[in-house]
Amino acid sequence: MSDKKTFPPIEEFVQRANYKSSTENPDHLSFWEKEAQRLHWFKKWDKVLDGKVPFVRWFTGGKLNVSYNCIDRHLVSWKKNKAALIFEGEPGDERVMTYQDLYREVCKFANVLKDLNVKKGDIVTIYMPVIPEAIVAMLACTRIGAVHSVVFGGFAPHALAERVNDSKSKILVTADGYWRRGQVIRTKDNVDKALEDCPTVENVIVAKRVSNQIKMTRGRDHWYSELMDFQMGDCEPEQMDSEDTLFIKYTSGATGKPKGIVHTTGGYLTCASSTHYNVFDIKDEDVYWCAGDIEWITGHSYTVYGPLSNGSTVVIYEGAPDFPEKDRVWSIIEKYRVNIFYTSPTAIRMFMKWGDRWIANKDINSLRLLGSVGETLNPEVGEWYYKNVGKSRCPVVDTWWQTETGCIMISPLPGTTPVKFGSVGFPLPGIEADIVDDEGNSVPNGRNGYLVINDPWPAMARNVYKDTQKYIDTYWSVFENKFYTGDGAFKDEDGYFWISGRVDDVINVGGYRLGSAELESAVLTHPSVAEAAAIGMNDDVGGSAICIFVTLIEGSNPHEDLEKRISDLVVDEIGKFARPERIYFTKNLPKTRGGKIMRRLLRDVAEGRELGDTTTLLDVTVIDDLTSSGVRM
Ligand code: WTA
Repeated sequence: MSDKKTFPPIEEFVQRANYKSSTENPDHLSFWEKEAQRLHWFKKWDKVLDGKVPFVRWFTGGKLNVSYNCIDRHLVSWKKNKAALIFEGEPGDERVMTYQDLYREVCKFANVLKDLNVKKGDIVTIYMPVIPEAIVAMLACTRIGAVHSVVFGGFAPHALAERVNDSKSKILVTADGYWRRGQVIRTKDNVDKALEDCPTVENVIVAKRVSNQIKMTRGRDHWYSELMDFQMGDCEPEQMDSEDTLFIKYTSGATGKPKGIVHTTGGYLTCASSTHYNVFDIKDEDVYWCAGDIEWITGHSYTVYGPLSNGSTVVIYEGAPDFPEKDRVWSIIEKYRVNIFYTSPTAIRMFMKWGDRWIANKDINSLRLLGSVGETLNPEVGEWYYKNVGKSRCPVVDTWWQTETGCIMISPLPGTTPVKFGSVGFPLPGIEADIVDDEGNSVPNGRNGYLVINDPWPAMARNVYKDTQKYIDTYWSVFENKFYTGDGAFKDEDGYFWISGRVDDVINVGGYRLGSAELESAVLTHPSVAEAAAIGMNDDVGGSAICIFVTLIEGSNPHEDLEKRISDLVVDEIGKFARPERIYFTKNLPKTRGGKIMRRLLRDVAEGRELGDTTTLLDVTVIDDLTSSGVRM
């Protein structure tokens, strides 16, 4: 690891948090109060923290604007002409936007939204590829106090419609299409299809990316560039209350429908900005690349809000990592002299599989810090990343967090925490995490339990959109006054945290979060399917793959064609990224006496293990069925 002395900001950060002794004498309030001062507030808060979990309010009475913090305040310094965004398209085209350029574009788009009657508090759905216009749209929303809901561009029309309808958006921002492995993906066609079932949408703004032939519905659809032409390049930022909603982000939970996680303004930006600055040890001259979709919470916090609030130069890339060759990522790092690279273990495993030769002839020596997020970075993968990408000299930060937490919660700090590959290190300053048993008592080191967060933190989700009961039930009812993460974990003898994965019915595949119920309801739309149970199965490289157990109605028999049709249904309803790895046909599903499907046993079958504890199983003969169905059709 690098020498501690090279990281003065972190030393200061750690000192301020009283990091080493934080568990004995936590003073999280004064810590976060200090961190909030990183931002520009039109009016300072009256109180740092108000209320009790689950309903807390941070920096009450404070007024600020997120786009002002991410753009305007950099314009009064030399950063005015610094690159804010460096965009590389898949065909190799590039576009650089300085902070000054970004200001003009965001203000104009904010005026476009106003002209289309978007008001403070209205929800704007953004369904876009990774292009600068997506970030412009997000920031423009924050400028006028509109709430954005960014929906993954890979979602199928049905999944998009579901999210638009839950939020009752009146406006949708999209693109004609984008490039993926040399092909045009027809984004706008998906929008047209989705909007057949979305009665609330009155206006659609379409950014031109690929100039393909698309249908424009008169009166509803508008070209981005045409609307921008007539706008002024200034727009007064709305003075938002610290607790005003900043965005909602739909994510999958253990139950059927995706949940709209609600994040608010002051607390979220404080944490996104502070953690980005400190975990990635940001310097003014850095070129920073978080290689994920902007739609992901990682994109929100660590491509857009964290980096731009810190005045960083951010790289964004539209396309596939293996196009035209498997060295594309390293070419981008070489070309823009990227210093900090943040990606997911799925991507790293893929790079590893492709082999070192794709890196060998690229000059990636500009790199000085590497990050990982989304799943466990197993030791062998972590070491490969450290050695082959980091050339055994860049610290690796494996960061644990969630859509609901808004910001990184547990992570090594570069230059401060000696890394153990496979572990996510310690909770960050200001964060009080613990591991507890079924009763909510702390477990001793070495013992597995549930990962919880004890104290409130500024970026915590405030609610589930229009479903406060779900917010309480999911996160605050499992243990009293503790935030339930849904992850299992343990601490080793040195107190390092190790994440063992989800303990609920959420499946994490390649960084995408899917609810088993979402997958099951897609499968159940097939008329021959009686019951379905989806699980995440560990694959041989430490990733997770979707596996669905299906029982058929009387008179139907499994056949290969049916397997394909069921698999296609999942793709049609959710998206290509959700295609199941395996479908098993079985006569029965194992259930408890209470009727709950025992997914644990299904996981054992899929992964070819001895079946675990079956004492609560209703019908033991199911086991024979299951083990004999353990052969793929
Ligand atoms: C998992 C992503 C192990 C975890 C920011 C969590 C991780 C879920 C890590 C949240 C990590 C995230 N090590 N597991 N470093 N980071 N996870 O909401 O199961 O897309 O609950 O947020 O990803 O996924 P989400």
